[in-house]
Amino acid sequence: MVIAIRPFRSDDAPQVAEIVRRCLREVNSQDYPVEVIDRMCGHFTAARFVELSAGRDIYIADEGGVVGTVSRDGNKVHSMFVDPDAAGRGIGRLLMDHVEALAAADGHEHMEAGASITAHRFYLRRGYQDVRESESGFGLTYLVRKPLRPSAA
Ligand SMILES: CC(C)(COP(=O)(O)OP(=O)(O)OC[C@H]1O[C@@H](n2cnc3c(N)ncnc32)[C@H](O)[C@@H]1OP(=O)(O)O)[C@@H](O)C(=O)NCCC(=O)NCCS
Repeated sequence: MVIAIRPFRSDDAPQVAEIVRRCLREVNSQDYPVEVIDRMCGHFTAARFVELSAGRDIYIADEGGVVGTVSRDGNKVHSMFVDPDAAGRGIGRLLMDHVEALAAADGHEHMEAGASITAHRFYLRRGYQDVRESESGFGLTYLVRKPLRPSAA
C-alpha cells in the first residue's frame, strides 16, 4: 500500500499516542531509564497531540492507518515517531523529506531537531550535525542542525 504524508486530524490522536507509547516502551526504553519513559508516556497523550496541533503543524504517515508522525514548528522538528512494526521501511525518511521541503519553501536556511539518543544516528545519516547536548526532564537529547537548500519555488 502507498504511504501518504498528510496533515494530522484530531481523530488521528488516539492512534498517534499509541504509536508514541509503543516507540517509547519498545524502542527508546533501550536508551533511557524507566522514569524518563514513564514521564514521556504521561506527556504524549492523545489529548496533548490535539492541543499541540493548535501551535505546530503535525503530519501523519498514512498507510491505511497511522504508521508515523512528525511535527514542524518553523524550522524545528518535533515528535518524530514511526510505528515499531513499520520501522526501517523509509517512513522516517519520507516524513523528514516533507517537513524539510516545507521549511525550505518558507525560506529557512537550517532545520533543527532535538534528537533522542535512539534517533541520533538517524539524523546524522540525513546530514544533520551536532550543535550541543541538552539534558531535560525528558533525558539527554542532541540538538542537531542541517543546512537546507533554497527552495526552487
Ligand atoms: C528514528 C525513527 C524515526 C526512524 O524511522 P524509520 O522509518 O525506521 O527510518 P527509515 O527507514 O526512514 O530510515 C532512513 C535511514 O536512516 C537509517 N536509520 C534509521 N534509524 C536509524 C538508527 N536508529 N540508527 C542508525 N540509522 C538509522 C536507516 O538505515 C536508513 O538508512 P538509508 O538511508 O541508508 O537507507 C524510528 O526508528 C523511531 O520512531 N524511533 C523511536 C522514536 C524516536 O526516537 N523518535 C525520535 C525522537 S527525536
